[in-house]
Amino acid sequence: MFENLNYSHSRIALLAKLNNATNYLEIGVQSGFTFFSGDLPLKVAVDPYLKFNPLDRKKDGEYFFQMPSDDFFGDLADNSPVVQELSTKNQLAFDIIFIDGLHTYKKSYKDFINSLTYSHEKTLFIIDDAIPCDIYNAINNQEKSLSERRRACMYGTPWHGDVYKTIFTIHDYHPDISYCTILNAGNPQTILWKTKKERSQKKFKSIDD
Ligand SMILES: C[S@@+](CC[C@H](N)C(=O)[O-])C[C@H]1O[C@@H](n2cnc3c(N)ncnc32)[C@H](O)[C@@H]1O
Repeated sequence: MFENLNYSHSRIALLAKLNNATNYLEIGVQSGFTFFSGDLPLKVAVDPYLKFNPLDRKKDGEYFFQMPSDDFFGDLADNSPVVQELSTKNQLAFDIIFIDGLHTYKKSYKDFINSLTYSHEKTLFIIDDAIPCDIYNAINNQEKSLSERRRACMYGTPWHGDVYKTIFTIHDYHPDISYCTILNAGNPQTILWKTKKERSQKKFKSIDD
């Protein structure tokens, strides 16, 4: 089951085994390549532009919220339809949370902060696109990133945006969160868990830096 850890779904399956996960939240789901590969009893998908019809795909224990993550978390806080659909508030502390929505610093950090509210002591978080592959890839506007890339005669359309800043922010401002970033195997991803960092000296003087 874990033979190729280059893929998000294999990494998630391994992490789920490590923390005995029974539920899962994925922010940014697209065609569901990762979401549908996992088999936890309760899975929640959030994406404003799902590339499939949720009504065609829904199985027991799967919930699809076709909305931006901000609205999803807002609804959770307000105890509105999202919570009713998830039945009880007890199910609202996720074991595994995969953050792979809009690839900007602002959004990915917000998704992380919001996710903390719906986590417990053993929750494992995964932030995708943690390291950009080049300077064009790191531009935080997707259209601009791709056009600058074309102008530089570079192939492909990868876009990691400035999600990497989220990792620095967590490093400097969340001393109670430990993390490690997986490199050289598939897309760089950062795995985070709630344990005080051993070395938590700040890297920057302020968030603006
Ligand atoms: C890279 S894709 C996700 C891939 C998916 N996690 C997988 O592993 O197969 C990023 C997705 O984020 C979604 N997205 C964009 N803005 C979002 C937002 N505000 N909230 C949640 N998802 C968002 C996009 O629609 C897109 O489908």
